[in-house]
Amino acid sequence: MNTLVFATNNQHKVDEIRLVLGNSFDIITLKEAGIDIDIPEPHDTLEANASEKSGVIYRMTGKDCFSEDTGLETEALNGEPGVKSARYAGENRSFEANIDKLLKNLAGNENRKARFRTVISLILDGQEYLFEGICNGMITLERRGRNGFGYDPVFIPDGASHSFAEMSMEEKSVFSHRKKAVEQLVAFLQQH
Ligand code: IMP
Repeated sequence: MNTLVFATNNQHKVDEIRLVLGNSFDIITLKEAGIDIDIPEPHDTLEANASEKSGVIYRMTGKDCFSEDTGLETEALNGEPGVKSARYAGENRSFEANIDKLLKNLAGNENRKARFRTVISLILDGQEYLFEGICNGMITLERRGRNGFGYDPVFIPDGASHSFAEMSMEEKSVFSHRKKAVEQLVAFLQQH
């Protein structure tokens, strides 16, 4: 089985991606690779941040690896929080404060259209490849559900009646931006 280092410290992302990968590929987390760093996300696009993360890990390990960067983009706020999603309400990266700020900024706004966009950067044999997954949906008026992470309690994907946080991981996976990006990654890896 092929093994890739997944450049993240977010266990939710690891679990979601392992669910999609099944037995086709194995991933090693940073923790499992004995790497204890918080990789910087200094750029103003998801693509550049994903590249930064995979590049850092490739230079440290010399192993095939991938990273992903995800943003929540709302139409009414011109794409915000977007690439700033993790630190929308400040440097302490609080999911709760980020949601509070989002709901406040959208208060009274009838346009609740939003999308999650995931960019994966894969480094295979020293060469970089990018993949994208998008999930369209809407922002709720208030929090719904307790599962998942990040903005899951306030996001309902198109075609669903529940928020991501009201779904199991398997249900979220039917709609998920991350799953769509990972499926492209898998299709690519299966050809190489
Ligand atoms: P990053 O990709 O770890 O930088 O994530 C950016 C921000 O988006 C963080 O606040 C995450 O919690 C949030 N986020 C990323 N993926 C998801 C998701 O699948 N659901 C909800 N929030 C997410």
